[in-house]
Amino acid sequence: MNNNMDFSFTLFLLVSLAFSFQCSSSSSSSSSSLRKGSSLSVENPEDKLISHNGMFSAGFISIGQNAYSFAIWFTEPNSLNHKNTIVWMANRDQPVNGKRSKLTLLNTGNIVLLDVSLNNVWSSKTSSLEPLELHLKNDGNLVLLELQGTKILWQSFDSPTDTLVPGQPLTRYTKLVASRSDTNHSSGFYQFFFDDENILGLHYNGRDVSSSYWPKPWLLSWDVGRSNFNSSRIAVLGSFGEFYSSDNFTFTTSDYGSVMQRIMKLDSDGVVRVYSRINVSQNWYVSWQAFSGTCTVHGVCGANSTCSYSPKLGRKCSCIPGYRMKNPNDWSYGCEPMFDFTCNKSESTFLEMKNVEFYGYDFHYIEICNFSTCVDLCLQDCNCKAFQFSYWEKHGFYRCFTKTQLQNGRYYPIFEGSTYLRLPKGNTFSLKQTSNPSNNDVCSEKLQRVYVNGGENHFVKFFLWFATAIGAFQTVCIFVIWCSLFRSNQKTYADQQGYHIADIGFRKFSYLELKKATKGFSQEIGRGGGGVVYKGLLSDERHAAIKRLYNAQQGGEGEFLAEVGIIGRLNHMNLIEMWGYCAEGKYRLLVYEYMENGSLAENLSSNKLDWSKRFKIALAIARVLAYLHEECLEWILHCDIKPQNILLDSNFQPKLADFGLSKLKNRNNLNNSSVSMIRGTRGYMAPEWIFNLPITSKVDVYSYGIVVLEMITGKSPTTGFKIVNGEEESVGRLVTWVREKRGSSISWLEEIVDPNIGLNYDKSKMEILAKVALDCVVDERDSRPTMSRVVEMLQYHGND
Ligand SMILES: *[C@@H]1O[C@H](CO)[C@@H](O)[C@H](O)[C@H]1NC(C)=O
Ligand SMILES: *[C@@H]1O[C@H](CO)[C@@H](O)[C@H](O)[C@H]1NC(C)=O
Ligand SMILES: *[C@@H]1O[C@H](CO)[C@@H](O)[C@H](O)[C@H]1NC(C)=O
Ligand SMILES: *[C@@H]1O[C@H](CO)[C@@H](O)[C@H](O)[C@H]1NC(C)=O
Ligand SMILES: *[C@@H]1O[C@H](CO)[C@@H](O)[C@H](O)[C@H]1NC(C)=O
Ligand SMILES: *[C@@H]1O[C@H](CO)[C@@H](O)[C@H](O)[C@H]1NC(C)=O
Ligand SMILES: *[C@@H]1O[C@H](CO)[C@@H](O)[C@H](O)[C@H]1NC(C)=O
Repeated sequence: MNNNMDFSFTLFLLVSLAFSFQCSSSSSSSSSSLRKGSSLSVENPEDKLISHNGMFSAGFISIGQNAYSFAIWFTEPNSLNHKNTIVWMANRDQPVNGKRSKLTLLNTGNIVLLDVSLNNVWSSKTSSLEPLELHLKNDGNLVLLELQGTKILWQSFDSPTDTLVPGQPLTRYTKLVASRSDTNHSSGFYQFFFDDENILGLHYNGRDVSSSYWPKPWLLSWDVGRSNFNSSRIAVLGSFGEFYSSDNFTFTTSDYGSVMQRIMKLDSDGVVRVYSRINVSQNWYVSWQAFSGTCTVHGVCGANSTCSYSPKLGRKCSCIPGYRMKNPNDWSYGCEPMFDFTCNKSESTFLEMKNVEFYGYDFHYIEICNFSTCVDLCLQDCNCKAFQFSYWEKHGFYRCFTKTQLQNGRYYPIFEGSTYLRLPKGNTFSLKQTSNPSNNDVCSEKLQRVYVNGGENHFVKFFLWFATAIGAFQTVCIFVIWCSLFRSNQKTYADQQGYHIADIGFRKFSYLELKKATKGFSQEIGRGGGGVVYKGLLSDERHAAIKRLYNAQQGGEGEFLAEVGIIGRLNHMNLIEMWGYCAEGKYRLLVYEYMENGSLAENLSSNKLDWSKRFKIALAIARVLAYLHEECLEWILHCDIKPQNILLDSNFQPKLADFGLSKLKNRNNLNNSSVSMIRGTRGYMAPEWIFNLPITSKVDVYSYGIVVLEMITGKSPTTGFKIVNGEEESVGRLVTWVREKRGSSISWLEEIVDPNIGLNYDKSKMEILAKVALDCVVDERDSRPTMSRVVEMLQYHGND
């Protein structure tokens, strides 16, 4: 008995050894299956299963900094961005460590995924004493089956994540769940499944609310060609691009037939799409989508916000007036009121939001009503947050809906009514800060960063950057932000930080690493903005500009990270890119991309810029300032716009540096006393600084105007300049000089334009540019245009 057990145990060991040997010997050639007792390890990149046809791979895949998932993907990455197209994930909500995590097919017949601390992150919950194999089939299905016979114990097709491959059915037991974002594969809020009425549709399942948004929820299923009588609930995408669903919903993709690879995917934006690839050396493209115009999707901007969409610019969220983002990193949290609600009728007032509608949560609905009845209806109810009032053309009367919640808001020009928002009397909230989508030009998730490949220019002559004038007027913005951000943003981001940073390919550097990269901080290339900038060569051969902050904060690393994370997430092709940071002990450093062509200041003085370059720079800088002021992240003031902070890449595309180091402003907090410490640079500073008036985004508008005047005239506002009659002008008189010229002469343009530009310019464009610049530098703050208005004026006339 005892002997017998020993023997069988030895046999078992031998067998498992044999299997693991087989596994490890075969893993170098990557087999398509795994036997009992063997594992795939996260540490060995060769440890993966590859389907016989080579199309699919299964194994551990990196999904973030030191975060891995066990997944199935197309072996050939997308040729455009070299990203793997993942079709299934075992542990999307719980990534594992890059060390010692393993997927094992146990002798008990269970597949388990253990992370470094041996937590069971995922398992197939199967058991069998038969010999088994885990096999990756040619269609991308990972199956656990008995070696003898064909009994399938488990298959990945039964637990899809966000993707279906051709032939993989969607059934009553399965659903697609979108990922949280393009980079975060965790389960998100959007789902695709058969509802209780047997209709296949898209659903939003948010933190507090849920609703269906496709097919159109206000239409009956048979109005949209669906049938709810067939309860078999099955849908499948065929290999030629035809889709059949048991509710009679069918479509064929735009590339029916021909294509080699396809997937149907519920994207993180809540839209289901089919992607195709003609062959593996091509990119994926969309060959079908449920609908376009992503504001149709519910919950995209969270509660108390509006979504606007344009095909060119994509989707944009804005808080409604009087509300602010609950979590500035994440629109799904929506916006919260900045005021206290009152039930008192005489304390309420209404603000009209044209073409804005909110779907659902109607408390009362009346027809044939006039405006005052609608107002009264809302006032009668403490919970009425707003009402929607619109003319129903078809029937010739007005309709009134009172709203108890403001969900699924969207700006929708086709909607001819308005929503009237209930606000406390005497409020100062206005629509101005919220959306007017026609003006939005930049903050779109579709915009990609432009990566500059400095490879060939490594040894090109290096230009100084951040050549900030040293002196009494040097900017100290940075200290203020660190402090104020520590106060305001603490908990909100700190927890999520690690992940976000991983998201954007932004990373932490060690002090030693940066010391080495800069050869012991030996090559100083600039100073100012709160620190000294050094040139460095990173271990991956990228040239970087590394800024070492003076007076490093004693605050914790978490807060510093939270702050840097915000800046790191700013994403615009005309912003200098931050690659990472270092926070160790008393050291605080920031790592930026390095720009070959130095600053605008150097280029102006060495006179390398022709008229068209100058105009493009002016427009690009206006765009990026509009982005900082009005788009993505509430308000961010730069505080120190000047030619030294505008850097030029190898194509003379400008990039703004030192952004985000200024104070991230709360819209309702313009009078924050900490701002009064901030100084810009002499010559570029708005009068508000000097007269100690409240600081708004108009300080940047002023500085921008000066920079543009400098680009036009070639004369610096800081150094003084010689005018034609040889008389030395006094410092800072640039604006007066241009104004006087304009007032006194019809040929004023010719008189002010930088002689280096010569006659090679478009006179009408130049005139617009000069006029806009003069508008920007008026003393009266409120008369200066906003940056988005500047963009409009330049764009319209510059037809660029
Ligand atoms: C229900 O749908 C399935 C799958 O499309 C189909 O095979 C079946 O014939 C349908 N049943 C009825 C009663 O229409
Ligand atoms: C399904 O659609 C086809 C073609 O669109 C139509 O002829 C058929 O009547 C529909 N079936 C049901 C049950 O609605
Ligand atoms: C992929 O398609 C391109 C262009 O259609 C063709 O040149 C190339 O040879 C194809 N590659 C393969 C592997 O079929
Ligand atoms: C939206 O605003 C209402 C007040 O209008 C507030 O009660 C609610 O909590 C807000 N929703 C969120 C998600 O903050
Ligand atoms: C409502 O507000 C008005 C004006 O502020 C005030 O006179 C009145 O007493 C308030 N009514 C209640 C019930 O609080
Ligand atoms: C609005 O309608 C109500 C009842 O329908 C009526 O009493 C009131 O006079 C109307 N007000 C206006 C301004 O037309
Ligand atoms: C991804 O999203 C989930 C759910 O919102 C969140 O808990 C997690 O921290 C996020 N992960 C990353 C890497 O951002």
